[in-house]
Amino acid sequence: MGKKIEQLYQFAKFATLGIPADAVCSVDVTNRCNLRCHHCYFFEHEQPENITVEDWRAFFEKLKAEGFPFFSCTWVGGEPLMRKEVIEMGSQYFRSNMVVTNGTIEIPDWKHIHFKISVDGKEERHNRLRGAKTYQKIKKTIRAAADKGLRVGIATVVTRENEAELEEFVEEWRHEPISRGIVFDFYTYMHGQPEADKLWLNYEERDRVIDRILAIKERYPNLIEMPAHALNLLRSDNCRKITDNCLATSKMASWDVSGKRKEKCILGPKADCDRCGCGVPFWLQAVEDLDAETIGRMFGPGAAKYAKYLVPLRFLKSLRPEPKPKTDEKRELYQISRN
Ligand SMILES: C[S@@+](CC[C@H](N)C(=O)[O-])C[C@H]1O[C@@H](n2cnc3c(N)ncnc32)[C@H](O)[C@@H]1O
Ligand code: SF4
Ligand code: SF4
Repeated sequence: MGKKIEQLYQFAKFATLGIPADAVCSVDVTNRCNLRCHHCYFFEHEQPENITVEDWRAFFEKLKAEGFPFFSCTWVGGEPLMRKEVIEMGSQYFRSNMVVTNGTIEIPDWKHIHFKISVDGKEERHNRLRGAKTYQKIKKTIRAAADKGLRVGIATVVTRENEAELEEFVEEWRHEPISRGIVFDFYTYMHGQPEADKLWLNYEERDRVIDRILAIKERYPNLIEMPAHALNLLRSDNCRKITDNCLATSKMASWDVSGKRKEKCILGPKADCDRCGCGVPFWLQAVEDLDAETIGRMFGPGAAKYAKYLVPLRFLKSLRPEPKPKTDEKRELYQISRN
């Protein structure tokens, strides 16, 4: 099947029957990183040992035999490009792949992968948060990747420290070759994290930042990747409805570096759902709502055009048996066995 037809077919299934379980995945590629950022959720959790590439291969083969959907995977960590061999092998199983990297390591020539490079504000802020002078290096990494024709965007975590300079930040980066645009997440509070209070924007503050991001998006619609609907769902009067029934826990499979399914979500068990700024549940809800912009970004412009015509078919979703809640038995199935 051609890629476009396949995308439309997947969209029609998602649109009529709802997002299937395990539609999106994430893999923590390695427990190592060359940085120690102040906001990082990963190092707030004790990390197990990395398993080998062959263990990951055997695991994906087992999933394949069980009919696992393998739609999309985000490769994170730790710093995922410190262990390229896992991604090189594992990305072959998924229809779409994204690597989120800190931009300090050269981007490999992988045309089938979409890269998001983390940039957390203008130079001084970014370097402070990241605990190292990486900003200029990142710009070079991005330019070199774009020269090779790779698909590159940036991922920015909005915090109380960097929010004031968002407009200037976008003005600076819009001149860089970031064909995939900028995606904004908000800092998610981790229980016990030392800098948390300085970084977390309360709901009122976040609402005001959302207004500003929407204004930037009006000026540069293609540059800001986060759909307007998903941003509106993040507002104070909507967000608790989303996080109380978080689709990241029911629709996303996140594995740690040992192949064990992560508790809660990609952010790990210490993440505070009441102070969640992770884009995933909001994007997923926007897909469930058949928001045309979100559908277009995920399944292409053809699907966006048809989204509204499929709304009347949503009743089919209720005919689909509710997936059984994930019992420990089921969780065991989709994680690497401990023995
Ligand atoms: C854990 S990092 C792993 C990938 C890579 N090392 C990097 O920094 O891009 C994945 C993404 O999560 C973001 N992140 C880390 N801690 C966060 C938090 N507490 N809330 C929201 N995003 C966070 C990072 O900025 C990065 O964009
Ligand atoms: S580079 Fe990524 S994984 Fe490493 S400390 Fe920073 S946010 Fe965490
Ligand atoms: S912290 Fe994780 S589980 Fe909690 S609402 Fe956010 S994405 Fe969902």
